[in-house]
Amino acid sequence: MKKNEYDYYDDLANWSFEDIDYTKETLTNWIYEDIVNELATKDSKILDLGTAAGEKVLKRFPDCAEIVGTDYSVAMIENANKNLKKSGRKNISFRVMDNLKMDTPDNYFDIVTARHTPIDPKQIYKTLKKDGYLIVRGVDMHDCWELKRLFGRGQGYHDKSPISVRDYEAIIDAGFKDVELIPLHEKDYYKTKKDLYALLTKVPILDDLSDENPDNYKKVPIEKGIFEKYVKEHTTNKGILLIRRYYGIIARK
Ligand SMILES: C[S@@+](CC[C@H](N)C(=O)[O-])C[C@H]1O[C@@H](n2cnc3c(N)ncnc32)[C@H](O)[C@@H]1O
Repeated sequence: MKKNEYDYYDDLANWSFEDIDYTKETLTNWIYEDIVNELATKDSKILDLGTAAGEKVLKRFPDCAEIVGTDYSVAMIENANKNLKKSGRKNISFRVMDNLKMDTPDNYFDIVTARHTPIDPKQIYKTLKKDGYLIVRGVDMHDCWELKRLFGRGQGYHDKSPISVRDYEAIIDAGFKDVELIPLHEKDYYKTKKDLYALLTKVPILDDLSDENPDNYKKVPIEKGIFEKYVKEHTTNKGILLIRRYYGIIARK
């Protein structure tokens, strides 16, 4: 008997990100890891906030005097330490810390990085040396906007102002100078609807998740009819189009 297509989707729960087949076109050339590599010297001390299992740090961050990766998830830090052992890299350590309750020394780091993780610019300012850099990358409110409008919900959907603008203003207000906010625009093409569906079940794009109202989070199942409508309207010869909107911020103490 032919398997019902929607049951088939439900089987995706155990897919990992590597199984999702898509291509991307980046319309802006601000690449977070390249900026870190350009600004660091061999003497730099770097703090990576919300480092998760340390993949970015271990694969893409430069060799320098010291890199500390932190995350509030104990499980993530355990994995990061396993990955560190396998990597054979030197001068890197990982430890548990909440980005919003930082306990790093004052005036210590040359660069603080935060990719897709919450920040408190005032605490980052304290831990940076004079002239040190803050480099941020985040997912903006208008990420996947057509999809979110079709579903009438999603990450940041009900926010009064974009998170990029709130971060930007908080960084200026914390005392940083030379603050730049860079909109990042990307077109992703998912090979099949199974690939897109897998993404939407793995990443909270369609969940009413907001850092304006963090206690209001609830996971809602994806309505199959609306999903099919999106797929129909966005299928191109390159795949199913999903427009991503990220933002980069660079600032100096
Ligand atoms: C989307 S992942 C990004 C991981 C990594 N920075 C990257 O770009 O691949 C977000 C990470 O931030 C961590 N995180 C979320 N809130 C945090 C907080 N308040 N303090 C520390 N880590 C936090 C999560 O545990 C998770 O590992």
